[in-house]
Amino acid sequence: ADINLQEIHDTLISVAHEAGRMILSANPTDIATGTKLNSADIVTETDKAVEALVSSRLSAAYPSFAFIGEETYKPGMQVTTAPTFIVDPIDGTTNFVHGFPDACISLGFAVDRAPAVGVVYNPYQDLLFSAVRGQGAYRTQGAVWGLEGGRGRRSKLPLSGNPAPLRGLDSSLVATEWGSSRDGVNYEVKTAVFKKLCATKESGGAMVHSLRSMGSAALNLCAVASGQLDAYWEGGCWAWDVCAGWAILSEAGGVMAGGNPGVWDPKIDERKYLAVRGAPAGQRELVEEFWGVIGDGRME
Ligand code: IPD
Repeated sequence: ADINLQEIHDTLISVAHEAGRMILSANPTDIATGTKLNSADIVTETDKAVEALVSSRLSAAYPSFAFIGEETYKPGMQVTTAPTFIVDPIDGTTNFVHGFPDACISLGFAVDRAPAVGVVYNPYQDLLFSAVRGQGAYRTQGAVWGLEGGRGRRSKLPLSGNPAPLRGLDSSLVATEWGSSRDGVNYEVKTAVFKKLCATKESGGAMVHSLRSMGSAALNLCAVASGQLDAYWEGGCWAWDVCAGWAILSEAGGVMAGGNPGVWDPKIDERKYLAVRGAPAGQRELVEEFWGVIGDGRME
């Protein structure tokens, strides 16, 4: 049967608003917090409770669809070609724990391993990003707070309807993240790329305007989709970090390339990504320039 993507989108928005209330009512200073792989890989009881809520709502509404969530993931689970909800209950858990208000719930839906619907909701700012494949991407501010008669202020992405051409890394604001895996070759590659992005032209660098690390892969992708960032590069993300933001980025005219040189068509579980904002010109060139910065230092 045909899948009604618009209906899934509307369901995901109501689940995101419900989850947002749960996140806002949790007080991170007195909830149980633990770590997974290392001290920077944090999970809280709120991550688990939000995922349980989302998975029960979605399995009631769509019992035949698959579900992959960060907190119930087990090594070996894979995103298949089946219709699948791909969910990060709190993307930006580190921010959540510290009370730094850049965290969101990231609800993606993929069919044939391709993102088809994305809903990303930051409850601290009542800021919602959403997209349905083929229907454009939108940002809605204040729907829960009751702005604009309760509908929220809705803007199409990118926020400037007429984005400027990309003029290369030396005119770009670029997001990167430290992530939680800080060992081995990946760490060496990451830090070398950060250094080279920022270094002056005289010393062989790309001299970007600056780097940003918001602490949420999904919000980084939404900022690129909005046109507020020119690019975002990270290695170490999971499908739940990127599925929803990727759907939004694509509908905003952005491109998702691979985080290793030469990968134009990354898989949903590629784990390394380079997102570039929508622009009338310069997208391909920016990707290639970035890959030149990475050079031979491929991430594993
Ligand atoms: C993490 C955040 C972080 C990024 C990591 C993600 P989590 O997700 O998006 O910014 O650097 O790669 O795993 O653990 O907060 O859901």
